[in-house]
Amino acid sequence: MKEWSQEKLVTQAMQAREHAYAPYSDYTVGAALLAKSGRIYTGCNVENAVYPLCTCAERVAVVKAVSEGEREFVALAVATQNGGAPCGSCRQTLREFGEDIVVLIADATGAYRETTVAELLPGSFSATDFRYR
Ligand code: THU
Repeated sequence: MKEWSQEKLVTQAMQAREHAYAPYSDYTVGAALLAKSGRIYTGCNVENAVYPLCTCAERVAVVKAVSEGEREFVALAVATQNGGAPCGSCRQTLREFGEDIVVLIADATGAYRETTVAELLPGSFSATDFRYR
């Protein structure tokens, strides 16, 4: 993986946020996931009148990427109005693919903070906890 731009990833997350379908919460979220292949997969939250079916932006991005054959990731940017952090379900979904994934949490101005999956989900459960090989 060559050099990559945190700002570019944040910009893509902000652009993906424009596609969010959030008529119930009115909280729009965009995500951009950089795979080690160099490709970027975007996602937005997609809500539903049956509330439990609402899907987070981060998980949309992960599902898109994995369904295209990606398994290794460098970084994920997530953009909201106020710089809200990824939810627990999204943290665990990202954890499945590594603890070292960089996470950039941005607000609507483009300002962001940098963290990692390991920092967001310390002491996490993963396949190594039940696969003894
Ligand atoms: N949401 C995300 O897209 N990602 C998160 O990590 C937190 C929450 C969405 C789900 C729902 O559509 C809205 O934000 C309010 O919870």
